[in-house]
Amino acid sequence: MKKEANIDWGNLGFSYIKTDYRYVSKWKDGKWDEGILTKDNTLTISEGSPALHYGQQCFEGLKAYRTKSGKIQLFRVDENAKRMNRSAANLLMPEIPVEKFIDACKKVIKANEHFVPPYGTGATLYIRPFLIGVGDNIGVHPASEYIFSVFCMPVGPYFKGGLKPVNFMIADFDRAAPRGTGSIKVGGNYAASLTPHKIAVEKGFADCIYLDPATQSKIEEVGAANFFGITKNNEFVTPFSPSILPSITKYSLLHIAENYLDLKVFERDVFIDNLSEFAEAGACGTAAVITPIGGIEYKNKLHVFYSTEEPGPITKKLYDILYSIQFGDIEGPEGWIFEV
Ligand SMILES: Cc1ncc(COP(=O)(O)O)c(C=O)c1O
Repeated sequence: MKKEANIDWGNLGFSYIKTDYRYVSKWKDGKWDEGILTKDNTLTISEGSPALHYGQQCFEGLKAYRTKSGKIQLFRVDENAKRMNRSAANLLMPEIPVEKFIDACKKVIKANEHFVPPYGTGATLYIRPFLIGVGDNIGVHPASEYIFSVFCMPVGPYFKGGLKPVNFMIADFDRAAPRGTGSIKVGGNYAASLTPHKIAVEKGFADCIYLDPATQSKIEEVGAANFFGITKNNEFVTPFSPSILPSITKYSLLHIAENYLDLKVFERDVFIDNLSEFAEAGACGTAAVITPIGGIEYKNKLHVFYSTEEPGPITKKLYDILYSIQFGDIEGPEGWIFEV
């Protein structure tokens, strides 16, 4: 009989749960080893590791979904692999072959299969691949050795309440510089977001939204999700900027909006002084899925989009289609789904 994890699937938050196995592979002398699955959730690394001092590390986040028939599937994992390699290249770290990345994710999911939440609970298995520069070092230069690891845990909604709208405030800080590391998934960006996030939560907001660092006039993104708006003319609009993380969910929604809902779609500037062009707004990402934005506080005024109580109709339609593709209720575009 299959082992069942003793978890209250319907009440999961987004927090660490130790699962049974994780994958660890090491890079040394110019090549990756085979990698192993291990029960040990700790890493022993040199105190001089560049990941510890100079932030030479990057990571990814994706989910495995249990379908109605009990199968497990991944959503666009190849895009996570490619993004991880863009992050790695930017920080002078070795690339991970896309096949190795996908294989590591699948191995971890299979080894922890009993932690994949049942269909219908809304919960998923969150997968966290990461790459760190390690080894004896003290100067600011790239590491001589690297560790690539993948671990996972069951999660519920990132923002409490699922499809219930949340409010955000405009941050008084920048998370990235115009020509910095905003478009790659590296820890430094998130370190910079800790204080603004704390301030936002203390003021009663779910998180903050960052403006473009050069002019402070355009919306960039939420702390851990991209922004989109639906204009009063039914266009799907999302910011275009070199310093935001290219969200895989966002690009999926651009496709869904255009091809399933027949909306015109635009990646373009979104001016904070022109929020009234939008009838609805939302935050999108792997963890956030689609979280409707009730309102945004800017200069002490809360600008409400559709409602602070319920999602707008187009936001809801986008959510339903994305969710149905991810959980296998409807077929997605070719190449989006990877069976485990
Ligand atoms: C800063 C930031 N923006 C956007 C996203 C959403 O990206 P994705 O849809 O690829 O998960 C994330 C989460 O990965 C993020 O951390």
